[in-house]
Amino acid sequence: MPNGSTTGLKSEAQAYHGATLPAENGPADINHLISALPTILIGLSKDSKIVLWNSQAEIILGKTTSEVMGKPLQRCGIDWDWDKIAGGIRASQSASQPTRVDDIRFQRSDGEERYLGMTINHLAGDSDSKLGSTIIGADITDRKKLETQLQQSQKMEAIGQLAAGIAHEINTPAQFVGDNTRFFQDAYDDLIQIIKDYEKLMEQAKAGTLKTEQIEEVEKRIEDIDLEYLEEEIPIALQHTLKGVDRITKIVQAMKIFSHPGMLVKEPTDINREIEKTITITRNEWKYVARMETDFDPNLPHVPCFRAELNQVILNMIVNAAHAIAEANGDKSPHLGTIRIRTYHKDNWAEIRISDNGAGIPEDIRTKIFDLFFTTKGAGKGSGQGLAISHSVIVEKHKGSLDLESQEGRGTTFIIGLPLGAEPKEDE
Ligand SMILES: Nc1ncnc2c1ncn2[C@@H]1O[C@H](COP(=O)(O)OP(=O)(O)O)[C@@H](O)[C@H]1O
Ligand SMILES: [Mg+2]
Repeated sequence: MPNGSTTGLKSEAQAYHGATLPAENGPADINHLISALPTILIGLSKDSKIVLWNSQAEIILGKTTSEVMGKPLQRCGIDWDWDKIAGGIRASQSASQPTRVDDIRFQRSDGEERYLGMTINHLAGDSDSKLGSTIIGADITDRKKLETQLQQSQKMEAIGQLAAGIAHEINTPAQFVGDNTRFFQDAYDDLIQIIKDYEKLMEQAKAGTLKTEQIEEVEKRIEDIDLEYLEEEIPIALQHTLKGVDRITKIVQAMKIFSHPGMLVKEPTDINREIEKTITITRNEWKYVARMETDFDPNLPHVPCFRAELNQVILNMIVNAAHAIAEANGDKSPHLGTIRIRTYHKDNWAEIRISDNGAGIPEDIRTKIFDLFFTTKGAGKGSGQGLAISHSVIVEKHKGSLDLESQEGRGTTFIIGLPLGAEPKEDE
């Protein structure tokens, strides 16, 4: 309250509790209340002309009330993402309920590009009212920045947790590539020696000076070297070496997911391949507790998505599944659980199901698990950010859905739904 009016305060409190303003509050009080609101409030007439424009709207959008009054919202002179707003207005009209539209890009009067969040409410029914709809909004740029930072830091945390495991995953093939290469080196020396011996024998044969002892000497050497063994082992060692190098390449390729800076627009993505990559880099997290089963839809169309972010979600889910199985079976159990990842598509949706037969999620915490910093794990294992970030990535950024099915003691399935259409759904 700029001037600390007590009646204003009282009215505001009442308004917040859904009560109508008492009769003694005149239009002046109401205007005062509206202008003191810390959010943008815009009123539109039934033919979509601006009839209300509060002081926050003036400040944030850089247009005075007198500049915009009576103009259609579309032509009030603001450089903003009108299609999104129009979509929200249409959605609110057809659904007859408030519609939230986020990430509306606009240019502030100082030229800076910023973002608005709006809730558009179409007021149906009341024929006496001049108002056709109301828009409540706020500049969400700073919140978006914080969200991005938080997501980035969660990603770093996840990589930090994976780092030792990834190092181990690379080290194992690197070691046998090294061992095999040393074996090739020795075998090469031996083979070259034999070729040189044969050359000598040939020279002597040509000159007609070849003696039986010399042939026997070479024969002995071939026996010492165990040529038969080399003939058998070298191709096998070569196969293994190539496999090892492939494995390392695959891990390094998969790690690029994380060095990738977030994209600004969604890209058509082969989700199966992305999931495969995330399975690769998380291998050390799950392989001691679970088998990984995949059932990928071979006809899955490319899904428009933010790849790095989607992978971050899959990674969180896989690590959570491994933790849940370890919790159910014990860390050192010889009995492996199962993590199953399935993709499929239905109508205009792609779905990813990530199931585990771990501990399950107790009923009483199911509503809390998506809260930021909610965790049931000890320090170092969990910080309660994974599902909160996953929710924001899937539901807010991709306009998708994130659901779960869980049975205590039996396991959990997370179901990620992603719209296949290029355009995000306007009304949720
Ligand atoms: N697959 C799962 N099975 C059982 N519990 C889970 C599963 N995934 C998540 N949870 C529960 O949800 C909580 C929050 O998960 P998350 O946000 O990833 O944070 P963190 O893994 O750091 O604890 C976990 O602590 C755990 O209690
Ligand atoms: Mg987690």
